[in-house]
Formats: sequence, C-alpha cells, structure tokens
Amino acid sequence: MAIEPTAFMTKMETRIGLTSEDKSILKSHADWGLANASTMADHFYTYLGRDEEMNAILNKSEGRIHRLHETFIQWFHQMFTGMDDWGKGYADCRWHIGLVHVKIGIGPQHVVPAMSVVVHEVGKQLRIDGKSEDLQDALGRICMIDLAFIEQAYVEVSSSAVLRETGWSEALFKRLIATGASSM
Ligand code: HEM
Repeated sequence: MAIEPTAFMTKMETRIGLTSEDKSILKSHADWGLANASTMADHFYTYLGRDEEMNAILNKSEGRIHRLHETFIQWFHQMFTGMDDWGKGYADCRWHIGLVHVKIGIGPQHVVPAMSVVVHEVGKQLRIDGKSEDLQDALGRICMIDLAFIEQAYVEVSSSAVLRETGWSEALFKRLIATGASSM
C-alpha cells in the first residue's frame, strides 16, 4: 500500500485544484510568506501548547519546541516557493513530514485542527495586509495538499505495519476493514 510521493502530489493537485495560476501567485508572494512565517509559527505553537496532550509531545525533549519553530518557518515558506516547482523534492519533503508525525503518534485528530489554525491565521493576516482572495484560495489549497500527505502517511504506515506483521493480502485486509466498519 506504499504510495509514490510524486504521483500522490499530482493526484492531490488535480483533486484539490491547485492550478498554475495558484503557483504563480504563491511564488510572487514568497517574500510575504517568509516575512510572516515566524508570526504564523507563534500562533501555531501557542494553539498546540493550549492542548494538554499536544503540549506534552512538544516539550518531551530538550530544545524540541525551539527546533520546531525553525522547521515550521521553512515549511511555511516552502508552500510559497514550491521548492522545485512543487515537484519531486516538494512531494518527498511532504511525505517525510507525514512519516515523522506518524512515528511520534500524531494522528488526524491532532493534525486537522492544527492545519485549520494555519488556514485561519493566515487568512486573518492576508486581510490585514490587504492581500487578494486569490492568494488566500491558493494557500488554502496547498495547505490541504500538505494535510493530505500527513493523513495519507498515517493510513499507509498503519496498514503496511499490519500487512507485514500478519502476512495478509491487501484484498483480505480491505475486506476485514469493510466488515469491521459495518459492524460498528
Ligand atoms: C499543520 C500540521 C503540521 C505541520 C505542517 C507540521 C510541520 C512539521 C515539520 C515541518 C516538522 C519537521 C519534520 C522533519 O523533521 O523533517 C515537524 C515535526 C514535528 N511536529 Fe509537526 N506539524 C504539524 C502538526 C503537528 C502537531 C499537531 C503536533 C503535535 C504536538 C506536531 C508535533 C511535531 C513534533 C513533536 C515534531 C518532531 C520534532 C523533533 O524533531 O523532535 N506537529 N512538524
């Protein structure tokens, strides 16, 4: 069930509707993205810090929160630059971010609300700075693509682990899930 990050990226671009116009507008605001990344990181970690469970994860090791602040700035800026025009480098990077979160045990219930904070706070800042709705829409779409990577990593890692441990076929696994879901 392993995914190929570039193919997944292409599929998500189509499904979510990230267009070449979106990419152009994001690129033309890369400086704005970098200038606002630290403020967005502050909003993000203040929000996560208010949740007891997430706060414990953030402060589990010495210097983690400080490191995270820096990686958030890079992540935020990369949404505007697209790194390699939203190509293999971008897709591999997003897949890796997904895997990092799965390893730490961060699931959809943590990631979805966290991404909604990013979308909300960035929208507020764009309005304050008089930026266009087109930019806000483009950012919303790339945020959803990044979110899809983290969520998909969760599903892929969980199912691969079960398949490896049990030796079940993918078809059997899917059948068991379908049966389990109907009995819930
Ligand atoms: C919008 C959702 C999120 C984004 C975009 C995001 C972004 C990132 C990035 C870019 C990294 C660095 C990955 C690497 O090492 O290459 C990271 C790591 C990490 N994130 Fe997130 N994150 C999100 C949600 C969360 C949530 C909800 C938590 C919960 C507490 C969290 C906690 C962590 C932790 C603990 C690490 C590892 C830090 C370390 O290296 O020790 N993240 N995240």
